[in-house]
Amino acid sequence: MDFSMDNVTIFTHPLIQHKISILRDKRTGTNEFRALIEEIAMLMGFEALRDLPLQDVEVETPIETCMTPMIAGKKMAVVPILRAGLGMVNGILALVPSAKVGHIGLYRDEVTHEPHEYYCKLPSPIEQRTIVVTDPMLATGGSAVAAVDFIKQHGGRNIKFMAIIAAPEGLKRLQESHPDIQIYIGHLDRQLNENAYICPGLGDAGDRIFGTK
Ligand code: URA
Repeated sequence: MDFSMDNVTIFTHPLIQHKISILRDKRTGTNEFRALIEEIAMLMGFEALRDLPLQDVEVETPIETCMTPMIAGKKMAVVPILRAGLGMVNGILALVPSAKVGHIGLYRDEVTHEPHEYYCKLPSPIEQRTIVVTDPMLATGGSAVAAVDFIKQHGGRNIKFMAIIAAPEGLKRLQESHPDIQIYIGHLDRQLNENAYICPGLGDAGDRIFGTK
């Protein structure tokens, strides 16, 4: 499957790859799984946020007064896609504690696998913020496309999408539907199976984060 890589970053950092391998292991329990999802989100976020705008502010050090850069303006919003996306939020907040958090609730029709919205609450003014949408699994791309659609309808412009594992099918769909957003992927897996699970994947990310089944 071919897609242009212009707006996609696929991480090759050994720490991210190592942690994803532990996530995949079915013996990894809920506590460790949850902690790893957060850590990987933080490591990915560090790179994804490298273009946050800076402005010089005056600071008095113990030695003298200087102008020094700080994050400018209305900063950021993290918008997890419920529910698995919640697992990545604290990793981003560790980097930008002042970020606001919106939520988008979508459920997947079990037959068509298409997303339906049941909740959407975004911080305002959304149009002035860098928005990081989180979902650990970019599978069919249906939820990701719908979430970005909603955010754009509410005025969001500077949108980044972050997934820990993606299927080629979902990445292609998201790229084609929203070529203007930046996409960050921890690992690109082989394919979807007939139930729209990513192979080899890690199973149901929401169930593994929250210990449900
Ligand atoms: N959602 C998941 O949690 N896992 C998959 O493999 C696909 C979608």
